[in-house]
Amino acid sequence: MNILVTGGAGFIGSHTLIELYTAGHTAVVVDNLYNSSKESLRRVKAIIGVDVPFYEVDIRDREGLQKVFSENQFDCCIHFAGLKAVGESVAKPLEYYENNMNGTFILLDVMRNNGCKNIIFSSSATVYGNPAMIPITEECPKGECTNPYGQTKSMLEEVLKDVQKADPEWNVVLLRYFNPIGAHKSGTMGENPNGIPNNLMPYITQTAIGLRKELGVFGNDYPTPDGTGVRDYIHVVDLAKAHVCALKAIADKAGLAIYNIGTGHGYSVLDVVKAFEKVNGVKVPYSIKPRRPGDIATCYCDPAKAEKELGWKAQYGIEDMCQDSWRWQSQNPNGYPKN
Ligand code: NAD
Ligand code: WQD
Repeated sequence: MNILVTGGAGFIGSHTLIELYTAGHTAVVVDNLYNSSKESLRRVKAIIGVDVPFYEVDIRDREGLQKVFSENQFDCCIHFAGLKAVGESVAKPLEYYENNMNGTFILLDVMRNNGCKNIIFSSSATVYGNPAMIPITEECPKGECTNPYGQTKSMLEEVLKDVQKADPEWNVVLLRYFNPIGAHKSGTMGENPNGIPNNLMPYITQTAIGLRKELGVFGNDYPTPDGTGVRDYIHVVDLAKAHVCALKAIADKAGLAIYNIGTGHGYSVLDVVKAFEKVNGVKVPYSIKPRRPGDIATCYCDPAKAEKELGWKAQYGIEDMCQDSWRWQSQNPNGYPKN
């Protein structure tokens, strides 16, 4: 298939390009480079030997997007483009709602006008709020999101469901990612956060390399085995492969389909720190800090549905994730050079 990849220069999008081409598909990237650089696409080229066509276009730019569709024929869109920093979304709610909601509205309208009615959407475990069951199956009711970022994911899921209901020609796959970490095995591609990282793994790698003094562990009084928060970390390459497998639901004309994309295993913050130190032979100084507002104790999924229906299952474990994240950080201490 030929796939439109919005946000394809970003962390998950760039890794997905590699898996798409490896599986025999082709892609075109649309990205406004707000949170990425062209360097990620150069690194993709170094791995797959293909210069993936790239348009520096904002998905809210209707004319720009129409030009992309006029020059290309797409079988499906994998829609990664969006703002994703939870804390920033609390400070800048309008910017987050405007970018994520409006961008998706314009994308869907342009897709429809051009007869492309297949979409795989980057959703998030955040839509479960404080989950009503552990492990979380897709049957688990959605919960209350504590931040505007999460609200955009939850609302966009409803928008996409309504679009598919109104016109059954649409095939909509909602992939609810758990906690993506890790990096490509080559060490040439990985996560490139701007400023102080919000997420655990980039904070760990930046601490291990000396860019940060110590990791703050947000709370050790949760009802978990060691008191620190438990999450379902998933290797970004496994996550990228899930998108290739999700194309099966598109080819099968699944209508609306929802999948959890995680490993099904929960690791605490201290489990991750210990695994990282052990597998990489480096120290991660840390101290216990107060809980972070909005955090939940435990979040991990039951990924059985994706295995049964898509034939997708995570291959990598926590040690691979720690090793690959560190290889990326140590080979690229300052991330990608700017454009
Ligand atoms: P990322 O920031 O690395 O990638 C997103 C890309 O979208 C960036 O390259 C950015 O420049 C681009 N973008 C943003 N707004 C745009 C716009 N209006 N027009 C064109 N391009 C735009 O983030 P990521 O970690 O690769 O996440 C990809 C998707 O997965 C996002 O939608 C994110 O919300 C979702 N997601 C991420 C995680 C995670 O922890 N990384 C978890 C669950 C869901
Ligand atoms: C993991 C654990 C923290 C940083 C977020 C979004 C979610 C999704 C994935 C996009 C928690 C602890 C963290 C630190 C710490 N993104 N921690 N010190 O919060 O599970 O999920 O990213 O959709 O929507 O909310 O991920 O990596 O921030 O935190 O102790 O410096 O690590 O408290 O227990 P989270 P995270």
